[in-house]
Amino acid sequence: MKNIKSGWKAFVFEAVKNMAAARNPAAEITPGEIVLEKPPRPELGDIAVPLFPFAKLLKAAPQKIAEDLAAVLGGAEAGEGARFTAAGPYLNIHLPRQDTARKILGLVENQKDAYGNCGALAGRKIMIEFSSPNTNKPLHLGHLRNDALGESLARILKAAGAQVQSVDLINDRGIHICKSMLAYQKAGAGKTPESQGLKPDHFVGGYYVLYNDMAKQNPAIEEEAHAMLRAWEEGDEAVRELWRKMNAWAIEGIKATYKRTGVSFDKFYFESEVYQKGREEILGGLARGVFYKDADGSVWVDLAGIGLDKKVLLRSDGTSLYLTQDIGTAISRHADWPFDRLIYVVASEQNYHFAVLFHVLELLGYEWAKNLYHLSYGMVNLPEGKMKSREGTVVDADDLIRELADMAAGEIRSKERESEVGDIAGVSEKIALGAIHYYLLQAAPAKDMIFNPKESLSFTGNTGPYLQYMGARISSMLRKAAEKNAPAAAPDPALLAAEEEWQLLKLIGEFPETVEQAAQTCNPSLIAAFLYETAKTFSRYYHDYPIILADDPPLASSRLALARGVLTVLRGGMYLLNIPFLEVM
Ligand code: ARG
Repeated sequence: MKNIKSGWKAFVFEAVKNMAAARNPAAEITPGEIVLEKPPRPELGDIAVPLFPFAKLLKAAPQKIAEDLAAVLGGAEAGEGARFTAAGPYLNIHLPRQDTARKILGLVENQKDAYGNCGALAGRKIMIEFSSPNTNKPLHLGHLRNDALGESLARILKAAGAQVQSVDLINDRGIHICKSMLAYQKAGAGKTPESQGLKPDHFVGGYYVLYNDMAKQNPAIEEEAHAMLRAWEEGDEAVRELWRKMNAWAIEGIKATYKRTGVSFDKFYFESEVYQKGREEILGGLARGVFYKDADGSVWVDLAGIGLDKKVLLRSDGTSLYLTQDIGTAISRHADWPFDRLIYVVASEQNYHFAVLFHVLELLGYEWAKNLYHLSYGMVNLPEGKMKSREGTVVDADDLIRELADMAAGEIRSKERESEVGDIAGVSEKIALGAIHYYLLQAAPAKDMIFNPKESLSFTGNTGPYLQYMGARISSMLRKAAEKNAPAAAPDPALLAAEEEWQLLKLIGEFPETVEQAAQTCNPSLIAAFLYETAKTFSRYYHDYPIILADDPPLASSRLALARGVLTVLRGGMYLLNIPFLEVM
């Protein structure tokens, strides 16, 4: 549709230019001034061109320009069957339907599953960091939003032609890690995830919760945790061994959740391996006078350049800071894989952190610091209230998926669809993931949101399961048509003359540009909204029009081609949102 549209853009530009030449020879216009919009109602046309920008130049009211253009273009041969009408200050273009339909369906049939991909970001190297858990506890609901955004964006950027490297920063060192280690040392002797029958990250998380209980009883334990961190930094072998053991458990469990949720990474960074680099960088900056030293020996940066106060970069006791670690990590990454852009998918709680991080890297003279971008996303809560991690009442990701899968299985049973569905456990798990990923992605990233499990699972409405359901219905219809081996006629786009068919064709045509926009704005919710609109439009169409018509093979075959186009877009879009596709549901 984009190519089709840009053809019309050039066409209108020529007409405006000619009009300008006749009326005001001094006037100069550029193609960029022609903007294509979507008319508010489909009856008005397919493309609207606002004419306000030319009023001054052409010395006429935009309404008058619209009328004149419509009159001139109405008779133009080059219009290839398009119609032009004026509506107030807009020129509306009614595309030649048969021709456009033929082009769109031809493109889908040719490109198949690659339909939707575009070259907008071709040649760009984009690194995207997401998830980045701490190894003291399992993934929670916030990580599900993070992972949904990161995985989806990685897929969208790839579809837009970029070379993408997804990375995960495992925060495997620091005081919070020592806390679960300390609790295990005191109360876990000899116990293992196997002995307790627990998923290993849940096993480790249990000790983090236990630590917090212990600290309530005995605040002095805090000092023991700090002592353990110092021992870790000094390389104390016993502490390191405990650390390796517990981290291995946590990471094994976290990776199992990634596998379960369809999330993958090209590279893992471990904070313990990169955090020292930050310290060297800060010392280098200090020597060059970029930072300054306090009387107590700590090193500071002045943030006046971004309207903020000052910030400590190295403490006087030499222990490491979150910010310093991130400085080293960013530098290592750019050396490993020189990116054009690095996107950090991290919650809005850390807006300040990233503003400071990017500025400090700029102060250090890294030219690429301007290519760092924080994709900040809002908090997710359950309807009951805020999730709390310290008290251990955090909404665990694995538990939430299991609960939703149980609810989905209940729904399948209550509708008595067990025999059609077959693998109930597998299908319900996919429905649960579809529900979660869609719900988390349909909101614009920056917005805080309430995750409502019940709502997310609804099979009707703006949900993942609704898309899965439409996908399954179309698939089943196409299977039936294939079984009948009917119809034995070539599709003819000219037969797709109903208004609903035209709306569907246009939606199919808009898929690649929707992918492009989502990639440009780092916003998967654009794809969610687009898929919902497409599924809804198809559902209405399917309700009102028979598709497999044995008595009219050319019409049936044309409608099936349309259905295949819708399915291609639905399946492709669901992939971009990490919503499992279901052949039956
Ligand atoms: N592990 C951190 C946390 O849980 C998030 C890390 C975000 N990424 C980064 N490069 N700082 O808060």
